[in-house]
Amino acid sequence: MSVLTEEMRQKIRDLCSRYPSKQAVTLPALHMVPDAMRQVSREAIVEIAELLDLHPAEVHDTMSFYGFFRDERAPLGKHRLWVCRSLSCMLRGGEQLLSDLCDRMHVAPGGTTADGKVTLEFAECLGACEGAPCILVDEDCYMNQSPQSVEQLVNKL
Ligand code: FES
Repeated sequence: MSVLTEEMRQKIRDLCSRYPSKQAVTLPALHMVPDAMRQVSREAIVEIAELLDLHPAEVHDTMSFYGFFRDERAPLGKHRLWVCRSLSCMLRGGEQLLSDLCDRMHVAPGGTTADGKVTLEFAECLGACEGAPCILVDEDCYMNQSPQSVEQLVNKL
């Protein structure tokens, strides 16, 4: 049984016509998987490789180059929360926010809460330095964060 849905398989096939080679579709194909499955399993790697006429090792090489992707040993929680710790955010309390969140959630950076709801990570510059310190929750960036606003955000999650 396939781990990729037919919709995902079709999207990957459709992408092939928009890129100069099938290999160039590896990264966008990989991005589809954790959104749906919270991890990139070995089965998903093999299926992507089959669709793109690649060896699974080639897909795995691309995946493992980026810290963004998680395999089945460390799947993502329902939400992914990134705390920026680059210069602007660090100078405005980003590291303290990260430390507070680690204490609050009982996880180290990279860890997922025991209830599987949130994976906490640190990020390098999120590109929103004017609103430092910043946090990214899934696709949404929250700027000018404080311990109080972060607490509210976490309670919502
Ligand atoms: S340093 Fe945090 S957004 Fe740029």
